Amino acid sequence: MTQYPAEPFRIKMVEPIRLISPAERMIAMQRAGYNLFALKADEVFVDLLTDSGTGAMSQAQWAAIMEGDESYAGARSYFHLSETMKSIFGFEYFVPTHQGRAAENILTAILVKPGSLIPSNTHFDTTEGNIRARGGRPVNLAIDEAHDPTSHHPFKGNMDLDKLTAFIESTGAEKIPFGTIVITNNASGGQPVSLANIRAVSEIYHRYKIPFFIDCCRYAENAYFIKQREQGYANKSTHEIAREIFALADGAFMSAKKDAIVNIGGFLATRDPELHQTICNELIMREGFVTYGGLAGRDLDAMAVGLWEGLDEAYLAYRLGQTAYLANRLLEAGIPIVEPPGGHAVYLDAARLLPHIPQAEFPGQALAAALYLEGAVRGVEIGSVMFAYPDPDSGKMIHPHLELVRLAIPRRVYTQSHLDYVADSMVRVAEKRQTIRGYRITYAPRLMRHFTARFEPIP
Ligand code: F0G
Repeated sequence: MTQYPAEPFRIKMVEPIRLISPAERMIAMQRAGYNLFALKADEVFVDLLTDSGTGAMSQAQWAAIMEGDESYAGARSYFHLSETMKSIFGFEYFVPTHQGRAAENILTAILVKPGSLIPSNTHFDTTEGNIRARGGRPVNLAIDEAHDPTSHHPFKGNMDLDKLTAFIESTGAEKIPFGTIVITNNASGGQPVSLANIRAVSEIYHRYKIPFFIDCCRYAENAYFIKQREQGYANKSTHEIAREIFALADGAFMSAKKDAIVNIGGFLATRDPELHQTICNELIMREGFVTYGGLAGRDLDAMAVGLWEGLDEAYLAYRLGQTAYLANRLLEAGIPIVEPPGGHAVYLDAARLLPHIPQAEFPGQALAAALYLEGAVRGVEIGSVMFAYPDPDSGKMIHPHLELVRLAIPRRVYTQSHLDYVADSMVRVAEKRQTIRGYRITYAPRLMRHFTARFEPIP
C-alpha cells in the first residue's frame, strides 16, 4: 500500500469530533434539504467540504497573532505582510482583502462591463458569479484532457493556447478587460498548470494588450507539482518557482485561506499604479482602509507567516502525499476518480460511478448525500448543481463536462486513520451504488445556487 511522508509536525492541541448515528444523520439531511452546506458541522465526522480556511495554524502563526497590531492605519502587521508579499509575489502594489471573492468583487467592479468576456482555464464559482453579476461572461478554455478523468497528462490544469488565441481573435481584445488562469485548477480536479503554459498564456494576453491576473490560492501546491513534473525545475525551490510564475503576470488575486494556511484572508495585487489607486478607493468603500482591508491586524500577521509555511517543501511533500494516499486507496477499490490526483482534494467521478443517474438528476449531489449518510463524511458536489446554467441566448440548460464530488483535505488537520475511515465509507457506498437515486431541486437562487439550494430524492 502507498504510504506518504510522515507529518512534519506534531500535535499540540486537539479538537474533539463525534460520530452521530445513521438515524441522526438521516434526520439532519432531511432538515438540511439534502444540501450538505446546510448541515451543522457537529453533524459531520470527517469534514472534507473544503480546504478553505479549515487548516490548522502553526505555533508560529499563533505567536504572530499575539503580536498583531490593530491600528486602523499603517499597522506593523501590514508591513510584515507587505515584506512577505514582495519577496514571494514581487508585485509593486497589493491590498489585503477579507477573502478571495472580495478581491474578485473589487476587480470585476472596476473592470467588467456588460458584454465583457473573461477567459480562464476554468473559473472558480465565485469568480464566475462576480463576472456574471457585472453583466460579463466567464469563458473556460482548459485543454481537452482536463475533461477526461482518466487522462494522466501531468498538467491537466493547462489552458488550451490555440483555443485562447482563436477566442481572442474571434471576439476582439477590446471586449476582454482582463484574462486570468487558476493555479491549481480547482474546478477541474485541482490539477496543476505548467510554467511553460503560464508563460505562453502570458505571451498571448500581452500580445493583445490584455492584462493578465492569476487566481493563485493554491500556487504553492502548483509550484511543487512544477518542481516534481516539469523539466528544468527539480533543483529550484518552490519560492524560486513562485517568483518565476508571478513575474509573468500583471496582477493576482488570492484566497489566503488555502496555501497561506489561515482561517481568513486574501489579497489583490497589481503592477499598475492607476489601477491600484482605483482598487484602493473601492476597497475603502467595501472592505476597509488600505492597510487592513477587512481583516484584523492579527490576521495579516498570521498570513505573513503562513505564506512561508505553505511554501515549505517538507510540508508540501506530506501534503500532496496525503492526497495521493486517499486517491490510491479509492483506486485500489475500483472507485472512479479524477486521475492523477490533484493537490488539495480527491475528486470522485460520480458520472462513472452512478451512470444510471442522468445529469439533470444530479449524480454528484446523490453521491455526496450517500457518502454523508454512510459515514458522516462531508464532501461537495462539483457538477451540475454548481455549474449548470441556462444559456443566455437559447435558454437551454448547459451542463458541465464532469459530475464530481470533491473530497478536499484541510491542511495539517486529519491523520491517515481519518483518510482510511473516509476510504472505507466510500467503498461501502460504491457497493450499494445501484440503490442510489437522483435528486430534484425544490428551491434555488439565481446565482451560486449550490450554497443554498434545497433538494428532494427522486423516488
Ligand atoms: N478561486 C479559487 C480557485 C477558489 O478555490 C476559491 C475558493 C476562490 C477563488 C474564492 O476564495 O473562498 O476566499 O472567497 N474556494 C473554496 C473552495 C471556497 O472550497 O474551493 P474565497
